[in-house]
Amino acid sequence: MTEQKSTNVTWHEHHVSREERQKLNGHKGAVLWFTGLSGCGKSTIANAVDQMLHAKGIHTFVLDGDNIRMGLNKNLGFSPEDRTENIRRIGEVSKLFADAATIVSTAFISPYKADRDLVRALMPAGEFIEIYVNASLATCEARDPKGLYKKARAGQIKGFTGIDAPYEAPEKPELVLDSDGKGIEQLAKEVIAYLENKGFMSV
Ligand code: ADX
Repeated sequence: MTEQKSTNVTWHEHHVSREERQKLNGHKGAVLWFTGLSGCGKSTIANAVDQMLHAKGIHTFVLDGDNIRMGLNKNLGFSPEDRTENIRRIGEVSKLFADAATIVSTAFISPYKADRDLVRALMPAGEFIEIYVNASLATCEARDPKGLYKKARAGQIKGFTGIDAPYEAPEKPELVLDSDGKGIEQLAKEVIAYLENKGFMSV
């Protein structure tokens, strides 16, 4: 549990309710939490989903691992503690987006189950949608879009997820995407179908 360091702070209720924000946007808010190994396709699928939703008039945003690590989380590295803090901050930010009736897609390895569960616990039931982008290590390593697996195997990167740092696969994700077997468009459509079935696309 992160320590509450600031004292003498008071929670203010918003005057515009989340229901009113949803009504204005014409749909509900949600967090599409993509998790999986580096190179599994998280960012690509998240951006494809984002584009499809946007084209349907849904208010969306993408929070992406590498980008957030250049700004909000530039002071964090890849130790277990820093990864936990990375996910905690992203969790809080994504909650704000969902509260604002936006469908936010996050693309972080988020290798620890406990960290993902903490984010889930922040949100109202059902709003945290854990999506396991399942590609084998062999596939991710063969793709190696950033050449990082090669460096990790050569010992030039220490603590690389899947090589010498753990990845804890989700046990009960809302969705599993077979990124070994299917293409980006098909997988993105599976996510859209989930949102439609669960009633997120309308109020
Ligand atoms: S997380 O573990 O804290 O969730 P995050 O998704 O933000 O990771 O960042 C992962 C990205 O950082 C990878 O896609 C890769 O580009 C880069 N990276 C650099 N070093 C590492 C490392 N040791 N382990 C995993 N990814 C790394």
